[in-house]
Amino acid sequence: MAEPRIFVTWPMELEPEARAILERAGPVETSPSEDELPETELARRVAGVEALVPTGAHRVPESVIAAAPRLRVIAVAAVGYNLVDVAAATRRGIPVTNTPGVLTETTADMAWALMLAVARRLGEGERFVRAGRWRGVTWSLLLGRDVHGATLGIIGLGRIGKAVARRAQGFRMRVLYHNRRPDPEASALGAEYRSKEDLLREADFVVVTLPLTPETRGLIGEAELRRMKPTAHLINIARGPIVDEGALVRALREGRIAGAGLDVFENEPAMHPGLLELEQVVLAPHIGSASRATRLAMATRAAENCVAALAGTRPPNLVNPDAWRGA
Ligand code: DGY
Repeated sequence: MAEPRIFVTWPMELEPEARAILERAGPVETSPSEDELPETELARRVAGVEALVPTGAHRVPESVIAAAPRLRVIAVAAVGYNLVDVAAATRRGIPVTNTPGVLTETTADMAWALMLAVARRLGEGERFVRAGRWRGVTWSLLLGRDVHGATLGIIGLGRIGKAVARRAQGFRMRVLYHNRRPDPEASALGAEYRSKEDLLREADFVVVTLPLTPETRGLIGEAELRRMKPTAHLINIARGPIVDEGALVRALREGRIAGAGLDVFENEPAMHPGLLELEQVVLAPHIGSASRATRLAMATRAAENCVAALAGTRPPNLVNPDAWRGA
């Protein structure tokens, strides 16, 4: 039997170790660049392959899955797999996998980078210095808010949320969290359960660390933003569509909240133009998991999932168990 062909949607130049794992299973073809291929081109490239390894930023719609009749696994190199039509894959018995765990700490670091940057006005400070406007230390220049000792509200106490909570202990913060139901591990992290409404009312920093699902889409909208304190900051390191960007811009413009740190946007790479005009917003280009070591770990985990599925072994990070038929 011919070896299974594998298509990877980025060049994999920085992860030769992960590529080697895939090559042990079969020939690997890669996309020539990191840019997303047009849907028709991706459909053409996957037509004869057994495995597809996309980044979390590359769409895999039903049309692409339908164009690949030999496809036996979609191994996403990301924890978020919202751009894959998982339902369509499941209907065809194609397992989909992701890479949880390996990017937890790096993404939690990013929440802190944004939280500190927005609270201490680093974006504004950078722009100020680079514009040649700094004339020396002045008493009231760019006064920010303290992160230490403040109240942190985590919406979504999963792996990443817990890593964010652990870091808060070093900052002597009070930690609140909201999940659909209380988490038995939370008390060990010093995190107290709150309803979403109470968390929004009490927190100085609201950090969103949830997967994007039909239930979480638009979870932070006009009503939720109105519950936050005028001194509070919103940090989103999860997925853009969880926050209503238009409502966020209105809340910021009207001073109903103090600031926001955003790594993700509703329609990436586009964003609400109002965000670009607001000094009190720190904007990052979806780089939450973008450290060199973590990218390698993500690529490696995706490769391991891919190879396992091709060998008929249940992959460690299967997200659609209904599609798993085994060897
Ligand atoms: C993830 O893993 O989901 C990150 O957002 C990168 O896409």
